[in-house]
Amino acid sequence: MSALDLILRGANLADGRRGIDIGIQQGCIVAIAPNLQAEARDVLHVEGCLVSAPFVDAHFHMDATLSLGLPRLNQSGTLLEGIALWGELKPELTAEALIQRALAYCDMAAAQGLLHIRSHVDVCDDRLLAVEALLEVKRRIAPYIDLQLVAFPQDGLLRSATAERNLQRALDMGVDVIGGIPHFERSMADGAESVQRLCRLAAERGLPVDMHCDESDDPHSRHIEILCAETHRHGLHGRVTGSHLTSMHSMDNYYVSKLLPLMRESGVAAVANPLINITLQGRHDSYPKRRGMTRVPEMLAQGIPVALGQDCAMDPWYAFGSADLLDVAHMAVHVAQMTSQEGIRACFHSVTDMAAQVIGLNDYGIEVGRPANLVVLQAEDAFEAIRLRAARLFVLRQGRVIAQSPRRSSHLHLPGRPESISLNFSPGNLRG
Ligand code: FE2
Repeated sequence: MSALDLILRGANLADGRRGIDIGIQQGCIVAIAPNLQAEARDVLHVEGCLVSAPFVDAHFHMDATLSLGLPRLNQSGTLLEGIALWGELKPELTAEALIQRALAYCDMAAAQGLLHIRSHVDVCDDRLLAVEALLEVKRRIAPYIDLQLVAFPQDGLLRSATAERNLQRALDMGVDVIGGIPHFERSMADGAESVQRLCRLAAERGLPVDMHCDESDDPHSRHIEILCAETHRHGLHGRVTGSHLTSMHSMDNYYVSKLLPLMRESGVAAVANPLINITLQGRHDSYPKRRGMTRVPEMLAQGIPVALGQDCAMDPWYAFGSADLLDVAHMAVHVAQMTSQEGIRACFHSVTDMAAQVIGLNDYGIEVGRPANLVVLQAEDAFEAIRLRAARLFVLRQGRVIAQSPRRSSHLHLPGRPESISLNFSPGNLRG
């Protein structure tokens, strides 16, 4: 083999392989093997580090990000106050401010190894200012982040007088995916009608669907059932996603035993947003207080693809967030009680390869012939990556290092201990 551009030596991979070399040429992965016999212009020694494909955020709102406090803070902490607050902010938005905030978030994302984002963009503003701004952001960040946009009728497809026309306009402008919010329509019947119209539109335009669906604690919010039926009716199998699905948390088990096979049959995928679900749901409960997140392990057990999304970062709904999908996976492990080694690995998959599947990415993953988009983590495996929200030592896009962070460590000078101690929070393999 002739000289390569770059070799990563000694990587641990998320599938459990260890001591693997990854050869890169002209931005693509050209070899994956232990002890790769090849020369390279550059070598990155990553011995003992997990090397993963980039993080994938299957559900985000880039038009609202980093707007925390504008024009005021969410006092109740509820979804509905967040929507009202966003409604107050919308008329004040400028394209320039939207673009600057989105780009600032994308800087954070690149540093965190988050290189694929599906963002909803509100189309219930007749100016379509956010749509124009995020299309511009998409163009500017294309060299380092893939951004998919979903036309999202935040105020309701039928409830807002101009939403349907605006949604069509947004799709004409180049927005990639059809969104919806049936639980926010005026009635269950209107919610069903909105799902029917949106799936018909998806069939006509040959586009995917990703709907905010049943983001509610009401166990009778069952638009996911209509979404499955309409997906089946229009032959949209594999192109439709139900985001949030939090009402499923509160449904009775008998109904869910019918619902999950319906989802599998129609090839509808799910996105849970654990940071937001645990924060926004259950707000009307006293005690016991519901967690509100949808049934992630149960869906995975049925073979339904499930991604975990960030949803919000420093916006009317959520004050935290730092584009860290390991933070998202960490919360999912806790909220869904997916604490087995298998469950923890599943959560890692749900912010990497399974999320890529849910949003329909081609050319994703550590395989020969794929773009060399890689993240080197200061962790030996997926478990440790989630436990530590591990430092992203290197982030590579098409074989080029686009972000670099120092190793995380602390130097201890403890009374009664003879020497200073260097601690990196990684005690080695204690799990046998
Ligand atoms: Fe959302």
